[in-house]
Amino acid sequence: MSQIRHFLTLMDFSPDELKALIGRAIEMKKNFIAGEIYEPLKNKTLAMIFEKSSTRTRVSFEAGMNQLGGHAMFLSSRDTQLGRGEPIEDSARVISSMVDAVMIRTFGHDIVENFAAHSSVPVINALTDDFHPCQLLADMMTYVEHRGSIEGKTAAYVGDGNNMCHSWMNAAKQFGFHLNIACPKGYEPKAELMKGLSDHVTLFHDINEAVKGVDLVTTDVWASMGQEEEQKIREKAFKAFKVDSKVMALANKDALFMHCLPAHREEEVSAAVLEGPQSVVWDEAENRLHAQKALLEALVVAMPKQIDLKEAS
Ligand code: CP
Ligand code: NVA
Repeated sequence: MSQIRHFLTLMDFSPDELKALIGRAIEMKKNFIAGEIYEPLKNKTLAMIFEKSSTRTRVSFEAGMNQLGGHAMFLSSRDTQLGRGEPIEDSARVISSMVDAVMIRTFGHDIVENFAAHSSVPVINALTDDFHPCQLLADMMTYVEHRGSIEGKTAAYVGDGNNMCHSWMNAAKQFGFHLNIACPKGYEPKAELMKGLSDHVTLFHDINEAVKGVDLVTTDVWASMGQEEEQKIREKAFKAFKVDSKVMALANKDALFMHCLPAHREEEVSAAVLEGPQSVVWDEAENRLHAQKALLEALVVAMPKQIDLKEAS
């Protein structure tokens, strides 16, 4: 009996698997740019469930499945029975009986966990309130492309202790770098997710302290999807946490600037930094395509065989 592998957080893969995945993504990107046709997912279907908006995630998964020879099916909760209250458990059993993988963007992280527990095919977390692991695959790939290995480096995450922050924390542990987090008091990452990460993560309430001498600076919006009503309160709370040229000047000279996008210019980041020479945000966005193609290949084609429990025992 083989156990289904899911990708709900970066902790679902070992550091070696993640490193291999990034290497494979870089290789697949080169082959794709060279015009190579590669269709290991011919006749395979990815169901994409979106309960929140998306540009990059939808386009990259849909184009990626197409390029791999398969098909991606967009399912909005508004138009499916999910939106009318059909239980996750029932939806998971039904949808997974007809497709080869499922991608979900939703609110509570427990929703993807519950879906995965009842799914007969791999489930990919395409953003929950707590994590955004697919973005980190693209971000790690982008760092490697520009600077080589991130192991032993220091990154600074500036802003809200949100889904992006939690995934950066996991990345620090899995890819072996240190993460400084700068956030206003009251907007720290979840304490239970910090557990076991103290060797890899340091919390600051002063942006200047956090970015001093780092190799990479990243930030995210102050109000995430679902927090639109808090926008005004958050604008006040995060005022001192904008990444501008003065902040970037405190980091190492060759530090990169990253942002998962969409960005709010002159809120969490100045236009000068976002469009400046240290910014790699467009590469990060493009790399969502290549990193997720490597992920789909791993989950649908390679991994089920690798972890056949009968073979292992
Ligand atoms: N970064 C990211 O996930 O973008 P979308 O919300 O546009 O998918
Ligand atoms: N923290 C943001 C990330 C968007 C890609 C959000 O959840 O809205």
